[in-house]
Amino acid sequence: MRIGVLTSGGDCPGLNAVIRSVVHRAVVDHGDEVIGFLDGWKGLLEADYRKLDLDAVGGILARGGTILGSSRVQPAHLRDGVERARGHVADLGLDAIIPIGGEGTLKAANLLSQAGLPIVGVPKTIDNDIASTDVTFGFDTAVGVATEALDRLKTTAESHQRVMVVEVMGRHTGWIALHSGMAAGAHAIVVPERPFDIEQLTEIVGERFSAGKRFAIVVVAEGAKPRPGSMDLEEGGVDMYGHERFAGIGNRLAVELEHRLGKEARPVILGHVQRGGTPTAYDRVLATRFGWHAVEAAHRGEFGMLTALRGTDIVMVPLAEATSTLKTVPADRYDEAQTVL
Ligand code: F6P
Repeated sequence: MRIGVLTSGGDCPGLNAVIRSVVHRAVVDHGDEVIGFLDGWKGLLEADYRKLDLDAVGGILARGGTILGSSRVQPAHLRDGVERARGHVADLGLDAIIPIGGEGTLKAANLLSQAGLPIVGVPKTIDNDIASTDVTFGFDTAVGVATEALDRLKTTAESHQRVMVVEVMGRHTGWIALHSGMAAGAHAIVVPERPFDIEQLTEIVGERFSAGKRFAIVVVAEGAKPRPGSMDLEEGGVDMYGHERFAGIGNRLAVELEHRLGKEARPVILGHVQRGGTPTAYDRVLATRFGWHAVEAAHRGEFGMLTALRGTDIVMVPLAEATSTLKTVPADRYDEAQTVL
């Protein structure tokens, strides 16, 4: 069999573990040939690829990022994108393509699959918001990074009697905010699924200071929004010393809380640090299992499917089902966390 693999969309710790696993299972166990397209779908559309043998994947299990590179180019965005992909698959004699990606990548995978290409998808995202899989690799690593940051911020917040507003990734869902906030014992967690009320948030943080505590930690997902009429999000703002602050939910909340509470507040935007560096053991194992099962599905001719974790099992799920909706944080998880607004 000849298999093409690619990584597309925002990178995430564990991508290299999948690539390595695909090569080990396909080349060593099945005697297949594997090529890796460079920079995501772009590599497939431009027939830009490299051969992946055992040497090529040596020592990459613990390495963050992706040895193949990634981009946000989608076949549907380009004129003749689907036809070009189909032509290159035929020219290269590929029997299967394994795209590893998040929501956008898997939608493109579904499109190509419906156009008749032999696709087996592998889900990835630190956001953990892909429906059909209980967990995506990268999430555990991101939560670990965010939790360590929150733990560290507590000591400096306490020294200065400050409110730390920590913005974590999560454009549409609050999984990283929820888990890191719970793990670090944050005093308030703000997620996109539940628009927040600035009065309520101010009250929660204010009560902490009234009770004699010296600091407060607020975790906010980057996609969190205020309830309509609760707070103007568009404007940036100035702090209580008249210094300009940037717009963006973390910055805006810090400025707003500082003014409302008369306590110094500092925004900390964790950003891409959550996506960088070595994957945790959990993510390496999940990524390795996904790679192994993707090769097996290709050998069974089970195309148009996606590897997924259900409980402790890896199962195959139709791509169309996996991309139809996002996995948001269910309301009962807010109750468990106690500090979700
Ligand atoms: O989807 C993963 C993710 O890390 C989001 O959490 C974040 O909003 C986005 O990607 C950032 O994308 P980029 O790398 O293009 O800035």
